[in-house]
Amino acid sequence: MAVNLAYRLILFSLVQWALSLEALTPRASGTEAYSPPYYPAPKGGWLSNWASAYQKAHTVVSKMTLVEKVNLTTGTGIFMGPCAGQTGSAPRVGIPSLCLHDSPLGIRNSDHNTAFPPGITVGATFDKDLMYERGVALGEEARGKGINVLLGPSVGSLGRKPRGGRNWEGFGADPSLQAVGGSLTIKGMQSAGAIASLKHLVGNEQEMHRMSSVITQGYSSNIDDRTLHELYLWPFAEGVRAGAGSVMMAYNDVNRSSCSQNSKLINDILKDELGFQGFVVTDWLAHIGGVSSALAGLDMSMPGDGAIPLFGTSYWAWELSRSILNGTIPVERLNDMVTRIVATWYKMGQDQDYPTPNFSGNTLDETGPLYPGALISPTGVVNQYVDVQGNHSITARAIARDGITLLKNDGNILPLRKNDSLKVFGSDAGPNPDGLNTCGDQGCNKGVLTMGWGSGTSRLPYLVTPQEAIANISSNVEFYLTDKFPSSVKSGPQDTAIVFINADSGENYITVEGNPGDRTTAGLHAWHNGDELVKAAAEKFTKVVVVVHTVGPILLEKWIDLDPVKAVLFAHLPGQEAGWSLTDILFGDYSPSGHLPYTIPRSESDYPESVGLLSQPFGQIQDDFTEGLYIDYRHFLKANITPRYPFGHGLSYTTFNFSDPKLSTVTTLDTTYPAAREPKGSTPTYPTTKPPASEAAWPQNFNRIWRYLYPYLDKPEDAAANSTKSYPYPDGYSTEPKPAPRAGGAEGGNSALWDVAFSTQVKITNTGSREGRAVAQLYVELPGSLGLDTPSRQLRQFEKTRILKPGESEVLTLEVTRKDLSVWDVVVQDWKAPVNGEGVKFWIGESVADLRVGCAVGGCSVLEYYD
Ligand code: BGC
Repeated sequence: MAVNLAYRLILFSLVQWALSLEALTPRASGTEAYSPPYYPAPKGGWLSNWASAYQKAHTVVSKMTLVEKVNLTTGTGIFMGPCAGQTGSAPRVGIPSLCLHDSPLGIRNSDHNTAFPPGITVGATFDKDLMYERGVALGEEARGKGINVLLGPSVGSLGRKPRGGRNWEGFGADPSLQAVGGSLTIKGMQSAGAIASLKHLVGNEQEMHRMSSVITQGYSSNIDDRTLHELYLWPFAEGVRAGAGSVMMAYNDVNRSSCSQNSKLINDILKDELGFQGFVVTDWLAHIGGVSSALAGLDMSMPGDGAIPLFGTSYWAWELSRSILNGTIPVERLNDMVTRIVATWYKMGQDQDYPTPNFSGNTLDETGPLYPGALISPTGVVNQYVDVQGNHSITARAIARDGITLLKNDGNILPLRKNDSLKVFGSDAGPNPDGLNTCGDQGCNKGVLTMGWGSGTSRLPYLVTPQEAIANISSNVEFYLTDKFPSSVKSGPQDTAIVFINADSGENYITVEGNPGDRTTAGLHAWHNGDELVKAAAEKFTKVVVVVHTVGPILLEKWIDLDPVKAVLFAHLPGQEAGWSLTDILFGDYSPSGHLPYTIPRSESDYPESVGLLSQPFGQIQDDFTEGLYIDYRHFLKANITPRYPFGHGLSYTTFNFSDPKLSTVTTLDTTYPAAREPKGSTPTYPTTKPPASEAAWPQNFNRIWRYLYPYLDKPEDAAANSTKSYPYPDGYSTEPKPAPRAGGAEGGNSALWDVAFSTQVKITNTGSREGRAVAQLYVELPGSLGLDTPSRQLRQFEKTRILKPGESEVLTLEVTRKDLSVWDVVVQDWKAPVNGEGVKFWIGESVADLRVGCAVGGCSVLEYYD
């Protein structure tokens, strides 16, 4: 026994050692991922739609001292204020401390807020109006609580790894779906005056080993230029185009350069090519270098702390003051950082009566320390319990309902009738027995699963469980809310069993039931022996309905083909309205209209090997994106693997006919590449002289808070005197602006990319006997003439009908832009489209595998045309 154990330990150590060797061994030269340098940081303010905000910012920044500028770039330290992070302020010139706070689905760790369904459920609605409406509501709630920058939406991770912990925060495993979801959320949020922080740029596709710290290095997502542009960057480009005021960099490296100081990503791609005019912020504690990050284009450090949080150190704050005074960082760079931040604040109108924080993300108590991170802190009122919910529960419920995706409905067993005899199984139908919100950041899986866990959550103001909602409608129901099938339960031929199962995941700083964010232990299986519960119910009952609350794909193979399993509903993650949204569908008040925002495989081995989770004890993990463009359905199509349910699949209680397809040219694509970009406009200028050292001196009689991050220096004159000391600037460092990249020109890129090239129309008729809503999904198939291997179908557009009565029709218009038909030419560094759309096929259908009509230049037809 002991020998066996020792043997296993030795073997284990050998494997670990081999793994570390593998990681440390440099790859053959020429194959190593590399992120080229790009300097200097482009200044913001060159686009006309930002001109007035930049003008106002210029006026204010011109008056600011060195420390006032530095103050706005650096957080005050973790737990040094009410929000996840807050900047210092410049009250003398009217700029307050800015509050940055989570989350993408509601106000985190607060009260009287709405807990909306997360992105994945929103994606499943395929409903643009709801996407926007939720954005507006989120913005209103942020504003109501005094949050200047709401940390969302999340469009990265994209869902490359099905086990990835945070995929559910975004809108689905497709760049266009993410892009539409993200952009409409941003537009909505910012219409209410809150600044959106689009995150995480880029390649944060798994949770484990994401962060670099003094003891470890986060993984490197090694992504080639084409894949970056056509997949991972795509939703960011659209988000910038939508006017995102802020972008948050990811924790990980991209091509072996940390995102928070990756000059290629920030200076080149984001600020030059995508024309981003707002400010770039680190992910929390992702700051790993002061000068390096400033030169690489970072504008704000959050929450401001240095290598070890709460030690009162920072890479910026007073260190940034020092780097300016000793000349290491050009003063122009600091001016640009601050101008970007202040301009964004003006752009969203936050100079007009924007509230200051009236809540605390640290406590629900009414009073408490103002700076909980300081051992001795002044105290005061920290929570005013402002109710910001308005009537947002209506939107929350509509999203949860319209996201519900009916995968199977044999014999039209659904909808149920109110007097059907029901037996309900599974703890996922009920409340958390420990009480609502008892797990911090929802870090447990107890009761109905309403969202994943981590920073992307909020507390539930209330929760309507499926149990409550079903009991409210049916008086003929018995509940068995355990995950072990009760052997004593009686079944009759009239009974319908409803079995609730779920699958959870979340952020890496919490491990739930052995899963460190990513689904390591659970794999793609239902949690809590969900498969066994369904199987047991199917043994006893002849009619079984399975309801799944899940963060992403799970394997259904153990029971999906069992005869009694008649219906399966993916209710995704429903937020606070879990129960009502479900009974709206179960009992037929509404027909399901959600569609899968990812593929459900038959086996995990159906995915490319490269999208598995990576873990190793030593050395930096190299996560090579070798599958390129072929993730999710793009891969299944290429590998010719029939999944269990394809991307976009979703049934209704009625049926739809697609007819009368039309294609018309709107803007002729008469050139391969878009028209020349617009030239860059001018940017604000300031004196380039260094500020006097005295500006960084501590004010007299200043009452310092311990560990709070200040911009002041003890001996500023020494810093200034040290100016001859040379700093090892990165390779390729230059202060000479680069020529404007040809793919740029406006927010998101050259505006010609968004010329509508084609407009398609399709008539959708409700051919069944119940009312319902259809989704038309448009996939493009690009021609071989582009000279590149390209996925055979790519979702580029979708629209959803209103509720159609039986027999009713609606004509939907789906527009396709030049960019939608383009591939990224890595040599020319521009988007390349087939001239006149020659050879492009446009497929419109109800899923990627259920295409109803096809069009090409010259004509359209129903599917048979192309068979
Ligand atoms: C997450 C971000 C979040 C931030 C602030 C980080 O751990 O990755 O998404 O916005 O914390 O809470």
